[in-house]
Amino acid sequence: MKDKISRRNFLKHSAGIGLGASFLGKFPYIITGRKKTYFQGPIIINSHGRRGGAEANKVGWEILSSGGSALDAVEKATNVVETNPEDTSVGYGGLPNYEGVVELDASVVDGKSYNMGAVGALRNIKTPCSVARLVMERTDHIFLVGEGALRFAKMHGFKEYNLLTEKARKIWLRWKEHLNDNDDYFPPADDDYGLKRPTGTINVLAIDKNGDIAGITSTSGLAFKVPGRVGDSPIIGAGLYVDNNVGAAGATGRGEEVIKVCGSFLVVENMRNGMSPQKACEDVCHRIINNYGGPQNVKFNDKFIAINKNGEIGCAAIRGRKERPPTVAVRDANGERTYKGKYIIEV
Ligand code: GLY
Repeated sequence: MKDKISRRNFLKHSAGIGLGASFLGKFPYIITGRKKTYFQGPIIINSHGRRGGAEANKVGWEILSSGGSALDAVEKATNVVETNPEDTSVGYGGLPNYEGVVELDASVVDGKSYNMGAVGALRNIKTPCSVARLVMERTDHIFLVGEGALRFAKMHGFKEYNLLTEKARKIWLRWKEHLNDNDDYFPPADDDYGLKRPTGTINVLAIDKNGDIAGITSTSGLAFKVPGRVGDSPIIGAGLYVDNNVGAAGATGRGEEVIKVCGSFLVVENMRNGMSPQKACEDVCHRIINNYGGPQNVKFNDKFIAINKNGEIGCAAIRGRKERPPTVAVRDANGERTYKGKYIIEV
């Protein structure tokens, strides 16, 4: 094991020499404007505040409360949602692309080692976040996509499944039948499904007993997307970011907008510069809205969740009904609870 780690470090460092990056590890971290933080003990949070997030946290909390790592906790918690056929936004049962094929994106960051892994447009594997973890731990790369990602997963013994459940197939079929009045597909006469394109993704962030932070984002992406489309979720800095000295953030919603502002990285940088997690999330929502010239031009939605090094939580989304605020499922030594965030545009 030791030899393998040494070989990995050798590869990473030798790649950096040519870029002059070998000096990076020698500088002390400079953290400006941050209040002194007090570590509160292990905690796990996820973005599924209203949709089964407690079940995922329960699995993660069992790991954290028995001394396990944040990395193990976020992976096993995310697997709960990825393998749930009822969840149409993540993993098995996720809504498919335009052609009716489920393509999954996921990323993982281990704050302790500052290592990262990701997969994009991965087909036939129920637990893409576990494949992302293996990309991180068992290759010298960060991001594998499509056919290469599938081959890598199979190499590691993952079994292939048809990820399109009957529930997801029927939703996709209705969408296709309603898409165009000039084609030859008809919805059933009494159907009123319309052209809804549901979105959804899960972010899971955790701090373990040592104060180390890890995060995962996993999704089936934008429903009915162009085949091969990769969203923000597997792009480190967009759908997920972790800095062990500061905190972690994840994004859900329309990925293209999150990519444009490096959303999760920006949330973490805001916290590094002294903002609370709540203000850090709100600020990035404002940034997206301002990029469009104001709320009147923003028709999509994005949500950010964040946690800082001492366990403070934040959550903000671009738009929604005030009486139903964006939420985070939270589990720590005080039990399971829901954190209520804020909309920037209340409708
Ligand atoms: N945020 C998920 C996606 O856009 O794919």
